Amino acid sequence: MTLEKIRELVRSDLTAVDRTVAERLHSPVALVNQVATYIIHSGGKRLRPLLVVLAARACGHDCGQHVEAAAIIEFIHTATLLHDDVVDGSSMRRGRETANEVFGNATSVLVGDFLYSRAFQMMVKLDRMTIMNILADATNAIAEGEVLQLMTAHDPTTTESRYFDVIYRKTARLFEAGARIGAVLSDAPAPIEQALADYGRHIGTAFQLVDDTLDYEADEARLGKHLGDDLAEGKPTLPLIHALQHGNDAERSMIRDAIEHGGLDRLDEITRTVASLGGLAYTARRAQSEADQALAALSPLPESPFKQGLSELARFAVARTN
Ligand code: IPE
Ligand code: IPE
Ligand code: MG
Ligand code: MG
Repeated sequence: MTLEKIRELVRSDLTAVDRTVAERLHSPVALVNQVATYIIHSGGKRLRPLLVVLAARACGHDCGQHVEAAAIIEFIHTATLLHDDVVDGSSMRRGRETANEVFGNATSVLVGDFLYSRAFQMMVKLDRMTIMNILADATNAIAEGEVLQLMTAHDPTTTESRYFDVIYRKTARLFEAGARIGAVLSDAPAPIEQALADYGRHIGTAFQLVDDTLDYEADEARLGKHLGDDLAEGKPTLPLIHALQHGNDAERSMIRDAIEHGGLDRLDEITRTVASLGGLAYTARRAQSEADQALAALSPLPESPFKQGLSELARFAVARTN
């Protein structure tokens, strides 16, 4: 099933999410409108809102609050992207210049803050303390994840477990929150809520593992981001960590040096070395294993086309090319 086919299952919900996103974006401050519109309407995959509505529908939800919840999650995601591109010094996203490239770092950070706080205004209106709690914790964890990542940048001694800790916080937590909220909105029993939270955590982890391979081996035009952004910032992602464990002295010294100093001078050579040492294949295998665990987590859910859609989404997370 393609992503388009999965979207088909909840087409009217997604149209409503898009409408809500456009409405809630509004600000009387012109520059806020301009930048927020630039990033929100630049063709993101909208995976997290898709996850929220599929999870809610899979639990039999039918009262409409899932649309607002899905829009909230997309706002939080977009805020993290605005901040992340500043921190990572990235100049391309979604096939065009990043907001920081067009409007500058200060504007990007501040509009990111606008989107975060708008998301919290929307949460208050939802008036569901459990959801507020889940999202407050997830948002806080994302910030910790990004800071933790900053601390591991340029450090070739980073361990696999530290890497997994970073990606859980910075990426998987929001997927976990989104899936869980689908259950909470539907007043689903605790085992179903836990099953969806587990599903979200695993699919989110798979998603970031794949992102970290794509940074080395994607078709740049299709990815819509520059290759090598991670290496440029000296980020010791799993492909590099694995290569460091398996290379000979010369290979290890080259990779260590690349992590310590960052930069893209030797991107091609590093990519070839990481690939030949199995770093990309290993990371892809770990992603597949996370996707398998996401699929397994869905077993307590009753059969429905929406559960099927969640299964397909887990497959998409590893098969994706953008
Ligand atoms: C990008 O997420 C950030 C990561 C967690 C890797 P997406 O790939 O979902 O971004 P968009 O919204 O589709 O652009
Ligand atoms: C995901 O990490 C960042 C967030 C969760 C905000 P990346 O830095 O790898 O994401 P991209 O590659 O810039 O989209
Ligand atoms: Mg980034
Ligand atoms: Mg990335």
